[in-house]
Amino acid sequence: MNIYVTGIAGFIGSTVAGLLKDGGHTVTGCDDLSMGQATNVPPGIRWTVKDLREIESIDADVVVHLAAMSCARWPDPDELWQRNLMATAHLTQTFKGRIVFSSTCVAANPLLGPYAGSKWACEHILPTATIFRFANVYGPKQRDWGTEPGVLAVWQKAERAGQPIRIDGDGSQTRDFIHVDDVARALLMACENPAGDGGHVMDVCTGVQTPIIELADRFDAERKFAPRNPVDPDSMPQDPDPAWNILGFASEISL
Ligand SMILES: NC(=O)c1ccc[n+]([C@@H]2O[C@H](COP(=O)([O-])OP(=O)(O)OC[C@H]3O[C@@H](n4cnc5c(N)ncnc54)[C@H](O)[C@@H]3O)[C@@H](O)[C@H]2O)c1
Repeated sequence: MNIYVTGIAGFIGSTVAGLLKDGGHTVTGCDDLSMGQATNVPPGIRWTVKDLREIESIDADVVVHLAAMSCARWPDPDELWQRNLMATAHLTQTFKGRIVFSSTCVAANPLLGPYAGSKWACEHILPTATIFRFANVYGPKQRDWGTEPGVLAVWQKAERAGQPIRIDGDGSQTRDFIHVDDVARALLMACENPAGDGGHVMDVCTGVQTPIIELADRFDAERKFAPRNPVDPDSMPQDPDPAWNILGFASEISL
């Protein structure tokens, strides 16, 4: 199949691009490098450094749509809406084929903020797509810098540097952590099987909630506690069953 990946130089985009290519698919894509890095993209893949909103046509069987400002705390809400919702709206005008869309567990509560709201809105303008709500994704190439780096990547960096890890609140809040290779496999399965098309919303998660304080136990580092952001939910429970029932997907890599 010809598969086009938006956000191909990002953490998840570059990982899935490699898996799709290894699976015998022809992979192309775009990334404006606002957050991604060109060196992430596996060699031998043809892709363009361009904002999705400027792409004029896409020749593909399926688009894996990952390009977004993946950053709930981004200081400029307008930019976040523009990047996430307007880029997705542009994609629906440019490409009339199958789309696999990367939403998030926080889209279940769109009032949490512009990131959650923009993803929720995107879900609603993609009524024919397969819609994945990812849990907290971790793994190689995850950013340990910037406005909203991954907690595991940041803590690993701190541990290596002999610095304390920061825990927000008392650490009793829980999250579902899923490995990027599992997420990439879910995306591959959705490309190869249209059973999720038609706006099916599926959590891509492990179904296991881990308290942040227990995650900290896995690190050999001092802890420092910081005030918790009041909009951070106590937990974001997700259900692995729909992805299993519809696509036969289940996570395989434990934390
Ligand atoms: N990482 C997670 O835990 C997680 C959880 C839930 C959902 N998601 C979603 O999965 C997708 C990928 O996330 P990620 O963690 O790989 O983030 P990422 O920031 O590493 O990747 C996103 C990529 O999109 C690019 N991009 C942003 N706006 C663009 C635009 N308008 N045109 C072209 N490229 C653009 C960025 O440069 C970046 O490389 C995002 O849509 C994100 O919201 C991620």
